[in-house]
Amino acid sequence: MKTLVLVFHPNLSDSRLNRRWADEMDKQTGVTVHRVYEAYPNEEIDVKAEQELLEQHDRIVMQFPFYWYSTPSLLKKWEDTVLTYGWAYGSTGNKLHGKELMLAISIGGAEVSYTPDGANTYTLPELLRPFQATSNMIGARYLAPYAVYGVMQLSDEQVEQTAKAYPAYALNPQAALNIVH
Ligand SMILES: Cc1cc2nc3c(=O)[nH]c(=O)nc-3n(C[C@H](O)[C@H](O)[C@H](O)COP(=O)(O)O)c2cc1C
Repeated sequence: MKTLVLVFHPNLSDSRLNRRWADEMDKQTGVTVHRVYEAYPNEEIDVKAEQELLEQHDRIVMQFPFYWYSTPSLLKKWEDTVLTYGWAYGSTGNKLHGKELMLAISIGGAEVSYTPDGANTYTLPELLRPFQATSNMIGARYLAPYAVYGVMQLSDEQVEQTAKAYPAYALNPQAALNIVH
């Protein structure tokens, strides 16, 4: 199985989590790591190249820091431009059918804050519903995300632990059993 990791971080050189996570994924076999902000410094996405990359892989991991309960903006632009009608959806849009989609997210807030009584009120699965709906629309299987909360409070050692746990989770064939409905 081939895995594509799409890294969306606007400034990886200042990143503590996502840079380390991407570097760890670079070491794995059967994995392509694509740092999208670095590939397109002017944010002019090569749609055909992105679609070809997607077609060559079976599991798509979208890795990003949680920004405003959502994603860095280039990920939204990537969705808007790459997931085209007749390719990703519509009567002939079947290119992503059967692929697996997994999110890998670093989150500033503590896990307890993402509860009905917490500061952020809504749970992560609730906030990620648009991804789940998108996954359904493109015929992919939406797998349970890899999410790490409270990242600003993590010690260097804990960051290291998340970096080791990430490929173990994201590349595990058993993850395919964790389809979120
Ligand atoms: C513009 C911006 C928006 C953010 N929005 C949120 C948010 O909505 N919820 C949250 O828990 N953390 C939020 N954070 C914290 C980030 O999730 C955190 O800085 C990031 O996961 C750290 O990853 P990194 O070390 O790879 O940069 C935000 C940070 C920035 C810079």
